[in-house]
Amino acid sequence: MSEWLNVSEVILQEKSPDLLSPEGAQTSNPEGARSSSPEGARSSNPEGARDSALEEMPGVYISTYGCQMNVNDTERMYSLLEMVNYTPVDSPEKAQLIIVNSCSIREKPVHKVYSEVGHYKKLKELNPKLLIGIGGCVGQQEKDKLIQNQPLIDFVFGTDAIDELPALVGRALEKTTNKKHYRELKREEKEVLTGFQHRAPYHVETLVRNPGVATFVNITKGCDNFCTFCVVPFTRGREKSRPLEHVLRDVQALTQRGVKEVTLLGQNVNSYESLCGADFADLLARLASETDLQRIRFTTSHPKDFDQKLADVMFRHQHKVCEYIHLPFQSGNTRILGLMNRRYSREEYLEKIAMIKRAIPNVVLSTDIIVGFPGETEAEFQDTIRLVLEVGFETIYAFKYSQRPNTKAALFEDQVPEDVKSDRLARLFAAHDEMAFPLVKRYEGQILQVLVEKAEDQKGKWSGRSTQNKSVYFLGGENLVGKMVPVRITKAFPAVLRGELALPN
Ligand code: 5AD
Ligand code: SF4
Repeated sequence: MSEWLNVSEVILQEKSPDLLSPEGAQTSNPEGARSSSPEGARSSNPEGARDSALEEMPGVYISTYGCQMNVNDTERMYSLLEMVNYTPVDSPEKAQLIIVNSCSIREKPVHKVYSEVGHYKKLKELNPKLLIGIGGCVGQQEKDKLIQNQPLIDFVFGTDAIDELPALVGRALEKTTNKKHYRELKREEKEVLTGFQHRAPYHVETLVRNPGVATFVNITKGCDNFCTFCVVPFTRGREKSRPLEHVLRDVQALTQRGVKEVTLLGQNVNSYESLCGADFADLLARLASETDLQRIRFTTSHPKDFDQKLADVMFRHQHKVCEYIHLPFQSGNTRILGLMNRRYSREEYLEKIAMIKRAIPNVVLSTDIIVGFPGETEAEFQDTIRLVLEVGFETIYAFKYSQRPNTKAALFEDQVPEDVKSDRLARLFAAHDEMAFPLVKRYEGQILQVLVEKAEDQKGKWSGRSTQNKSVYFLGGENLVGKMVPVRITKAFPAVLRGELALPN
């Protein structure tokens, strides 16, 4: 599931309104939160040779909401648009093309899109050539309603139409440009591309312009699980896996461009199945033994598909496969899990965790939780708190249940009042903090291997991640980006560690 995305990390999103979990969630604690930003996702400008042409290259600005999958889609859009001569810009004011890559997993995504587009009214008045497109899950969900309700929008495209974006933009431009004059598109000329390519195989080579040290690689898309609260099966379509050989080739090509770490992405990565019959554990094992990657991460996993074989492969390849697992449980109560259609009970989830802890003794776990699912009683909510404490999750991403279009749970009668949901969320975070802050103190004094992703300043402050998926900020050393270095941890929070370069004695 994905529980995506809220998954990015490599790509730090300073501007995104939401701090993202693998699925785009809020963390209990700001020290734990990680961000993702279009900035990180893009190179300002490809090879210097094109500098003189830059002025004629129209600017594109993509505003990104949601999970890592959306962050990755944004990178793909930038890459595709660069191929047709657009250049990424860092503000909507500089753009000739603005795209809102939206997310509809929770809250009021449609309102967010309308309100963002409303802000561009002035820009459109100043620059009649400006085109505005809506992509991502809200585009997929709302289709032509968006255009009917907001005349500033010129086109809409869904999650399966990203590769058609350059052609779509080209057609819109052709219609608006009449010799030297520009005119607005008429409503009937505005395109809405939101069909799913149900029959087409899932063949997507990773497109990333400036991958840096760590990047994302999609291995599955869509989801067939139909959890009753979740809109993803409707916005991302049926589940499909990329062929194993394609993923291997793709990853190897990335390593040749300097990538040392990949995060394999999918709504439910561990139900991956290649046409050749290989499963997710096989894919991990092959990536670990046949590519030059130094680290492999993945997200998101569904508990029902996390088996002993996968845990064993993770342990066997622990020199490359990070010991961090994001395993959403959503609710700690078996009745609620049944209503959610999660296909496991509280006891089965706990057995799975016990199996994982036996197979990978140093495993670090995080999870997603929904509070206030329709009908959830106080006692059932308490089961959720107890489960968090029992498992000892270092990080949690927790959300108030939010009614989503098309989903079964949206029609359930006993919706929980908003104030009760807020109160439960606050109590859940408080209970988690009380457990997690002392739990992570064990890192203080330890030396962790950190893959350095970024120079935080010119004075020797660096940041990167540990194998436990902690963001580590540390002092010391020179030219460290891209290197794996030992860092002695001096201060630990649930998702962020601070330290200093551990010098050899
Ligand atoms: N309401 C609240 N949270 C949701 N999630 C998914 N759908 C909803 C919803 N309708 C959460 C789940 C999922 C994460 C990505 O978002 O916890 O794992
Ligand atoms: Fe995850 Fe369930 Fe949504 Fe699929 S339907 S993406 S498994 S929450």
